[in-house]
Amino acid sequence: MRFFDIPKPSLDSTRQMFIELESDERASKIDLGIGIYRDENGLAPVFKSVKIAEKLLFEIETSKSYKTPAGNSKYCKNILDLVLGKAIIDERGDKIGSIQIPGAGSGLRIAGELIKNNLQNKLISIPDPTWGQQPFMFKKSGLKVINHTYYNQQNNFLDFDNMIIDLKKLKSGDAVLLHGCCHNPTGADLSVDQWEQVANICLKQGILPFIDLVYQGLGIGVEEDVLGIRKLVQILPEVIITVSSSKTFGVYRDRCGLIAVITDAEKVKGNSLETMLSEIARELYFHPPDHAAETINILLEDENLKYDWLVEIRSMQERIASLRNKLANSLQEKQQTDFFSYLKVQNGMFSLLPISQEGIMTLRRENGIYLMPDGRINIASLPENKIDFISSKICSLEEFHHKGN
Ligand SMILES: Cc1ncc(COP(=O)(O)O)c(C=O)c1O
Repeated sequence: MRFFDIPKPSLDSTRQMFIELESDERASKIDLGIGIYRDENGLAPVFKSVKIAEKLLFEIETSKSYKTPAGNSKYCKNILDLVLGKAIIDERGDKIGSIQIPGAGSGLRIAGELIKNNLQNKLISIPDPTWGQQPFMFKKSGLKVINHTYYNQQNNFLDFDNMIIDLKKLKSGDAVLLHGCCHNPTGADLSVDQWEQVANICLKQGILPFIDLVYQGLGIGVEEDVLGIRKLVQILPEVIITVSSSKTFGVYRDRCGLIAVITDAEKVKGNSLETMLSEIARELYFHPPDHAAETINILLEDENLKYDWLVEIRSMQERIASLRNKLANSLQEKQQTDFFSYLKVQNGMFSLLPISQEGIMTLRRENGIYLMPDGRINIASLPENKIDFISSKICSLEEFHHKGN
């Protein structure tokens, strides 16, 4: 008898893409798939401010003994200050329960468990399209997952009118997933006014929002990117939020984030919300790693280091915006159309290019240009000196001969 004599698992198209990328021996290959920020040298280096904070941590750390499944509570406080701002923290700080977690990826699963355990319908509505890991995690938690309209992929705009129509069909006790900013994969974000409208629908219909915030600072700015979230929280009695530090502090592999349940309960008894969250963490992975959380505490609690970090993230945001402009201009020039102007107004690292599966495979196999199978491109990993080459290969695809104008 053999327990592990199993057939080779079939790979999904994303995994397949990364395997092809890895085994592609062309030095000229271009990876526009992976979701990390790259600098002008094509590297994802450690933030300078983070490196200094890590050195300080190395000096002062006296123990690596266990914390608890709730992780680093000071980190939660520091990050929630940054996301929710002083007014909300002053008013509702003691009505928020939070735990530190190994990244927002695990936050998706914890949120799934929370929703399954506490909401009668055990259903979450997610934007169409969305990041594939989100429905995967929600389904693993036992939730029913449905879609609401988000984006018009024909004409590349946020289809807010149809989003509202779909949200109005949800029932009391349903949950809805909202991307905090820099929507993955479209880069199309709600305006503050649209956040307010969504909040009012949730309030009226008894829908619980779950916000997944990963790219604060990479869209418009550290403050600007969370204004919509703050508006929504001010309107609603209860919100779940997960926050990632992977991209915003460049600590991807150190695994650090938080999940918070924001309430308006007059009396959240003791740390009952934290206990509820900790119990789920204990069941799923027990304890989160502490290194990045404590590093970020040192950074955010030191005025100079915090200032340096703000400068670093601002320069990343500006670089992404400039790459967006350059790619859009290059495509428009080659195509003699303003079809690609949507790239300039979208936010953050990702946008979709309207390329067929066949076109994506042609770019990959003939030109060594790797996009995600859904056409998602990581703007932040565009090599500046190859933008013209990339856009000329896109425009030479058969299907682009008819686009625009
Ligand atoms: C929308 C979204 N949520 C969650 C995550 C996961 O982030 P983390 O590295 O904190 O697990 C990502 C990462 O790409 C993401 O894009």
